[in-house]
Amino acid sequence: MKANELKRKYIDYFVKKGHTEIPSASLIPENDPSVLFTTAGMHPLAPYLLGEKHPAGRRLVDCQKCIRTGDIDEVGDASHLTMFQMMGNWSLGDYFKNESIEMSYDFLVNVLGIDPANLAVTAFAGDENAPRDEETVAIWKSMGMKDEQIFFYGKKENWWGPAGVTGPCGPDTEIFFVDQSKPKCSADCGPACHCGRYLEIWNNVFMEYNKNAEGKYEKLQQQNVDTGLGLERTLCVLEHIPSVYETEFFLPIIEVIEKASGLQYGQAVKEFRIIADHMRAAVFILGDDKGVAPSNLDQGYVLRKLIRRTIRYLQKLGMDWQPMMDIAETVVREYAGEYPELERNKAFIIEQLQNEAVKFAKTLDQGLRLTERILDGIEENGTMDGEEAFKLYTSFGFPLDLTIELAAEKGIKVDSVKFEALFKEHQEISRAGSLQKFKGGLADASEETTKLHTATHLLGAALRKVLGPDVHQKGSNITAERLRFDFSFERKLTKEELTEVERLVNEAIKAGIEVNCEEMTLGEARDRQAEGVFGDKYGDMVKVYTIGDVSCEICGGPHVTNTAQIGGFKIKKEEASSAGVRRIKAVVGEQYA
Ligand code: ALA
Repeated sequence: MKANELKRKYIDYFVKKGHTEIPSASLIPENDPSVLFTTAGMHPLAPYLLGEKHPAGRRLVDCQKCIRTGDIDEVGDASHLTMFQMMGNWSLGDYFKNESIEMSYDFLVNVLGIDPANLAVTAFAGDENAPRDEETVAIWKSMGMKDEQIFFYGKKENWWGPAGVTGPCGPDTEIFFVDQSKPKCSADCGPACHCGRYLEIWNNVFMEYNKNAEGKYEKLQQQNVDTGLGLERTLCVLEHIPSVYETEFFLPIIEVIEKASGLQYGQAVKEFRIIADHMRAAVFILGDDKGVAPSNLDQGYVLRKLIRRTIRYLQKLGMDWQPMMDIAETVVREYAGEYPELERNKAFIIEQLQNEAVKFAKTLDQGLRLTERILDGIEENGTMDGEEAFKLYTSFGFPLDLTIELAAEKGIKVDSVKFEALFKEHQEISRAGSLQKFKGGLADASEETTKLHTATHLLGAALRKVLGPDVHQKGSNITAERLRFDFSFERKLTKEELTEVERLVNEAIKAGIEVNCEEMTLGEARDRQAEGVFGDKYGDMVKVYTIGDVSCEICGGPHVTNTAQIGGFKIKKEEASSAGVRRIKAVVGEQYA
């Protein structure tokens, strides 16, 4: 069974069951400041799980590219990946537990031919927020699952979401493939155990709750189903392959590393896996139409970390950074069939990787020189202060093991206890920082963010009027306080241009224009010259928001019904975002009328 065949079988199965196939969304969430990357198939669908109408209907299916950064440091085992592909089917207030579980079972057992004796499932044990999920267990039993194949767990294991801090969530039932060749590691060995006997392949979430800003779980107006079936992992199960890195998704990449290093995969499994995983993820981020480049901020920082870690591991295996380029070419070649954006953005991918490699080499050089100086000041058999080691980490990205290695060459130790303490403190600070970002998000359809959504459309239209028709949206990020809009344009805007843009937006607000929403096919939207990315992002049916003759744009919403509700509009900042992309931050409200 080949990957594309598996993906096709999945999509065809659910299309036959009344689902509409939608394309994979961008890896960079639109209008959602709460998370850096799309972490699950449900992420772009959050507004629809909360009750917005989806133009493609109430049953959807897709295969979504996802990035999970939480596990970057753990990549190297058999099943964790930074970028992975999640097949998913959704019911937006349509079917619920019965049909969802029946279809999952039918697909795994009757379509893929997995022996049900090799499956185990879990259900929510219940707590003060939601009852014990006996209903789910009864359905599994009616499918023939035996008591010893069913496990109850609490919130940590059997509750999924929200993706940010607020939003749709609910109890879930997870389906595991049991590797019968591995004995139980203890008497209570079960799916929650990490011994390797149980591999999670599918998660069915019964999303009937919304976690609100106060941390309370409220019942949603509709009962949804959100599922995720890991493409790489399922392929492993079907092909009896012990690790995702040995599937066809990675073999061509492994081969390039073998050739470049002169080593066999088996001689340095962990290093090979890290290089392959990180480069695949980096190429997907760079290859996304959003045009993210390495930087010290947000997505750009994750990208930088992935690239620099790749280079360090290449060096560990005795190579310089050049093989990275061959790996990138291989990823583009192998994946462009399913993800044409990689081919479209190939020049950008290659250019950015090269630039980053050169920058890293310089930093590495400076870091090495400083390390030399620090070490020269310490006697043989002495110890380097953990604070110095930590400075090398924050200023030059030197991981502790590199500093220890360099120090050891001179017979010097490093105070790693102090380093770890500082590192932990630093992590807590950045975690607190990222929690700040979790305020708002797609789940936040408050009055303020709704105004800002509509103001974003007016801003895009005004920019095109002032700067020309080639100005297009490259990114949008809205919090309760402000909008941030990235758009294609080569130079800094003049003061006059900014004033004129602001004036046009305020004129449209003052005119009190009605905002209309219509559903139509992508073709019809294109004929209307609606603004939007006509690439890989939308399903066949789309929503088009029209604001008089000012703006016509494909968008999921939500929007105000009349522009007057926005009150007024003010640009706070205009700056460069990346090469060829400018960024505007703006606010709305009566006080800016
Ligand atoms: N959203 C669910 C998950 O990611 C399906 O596991």
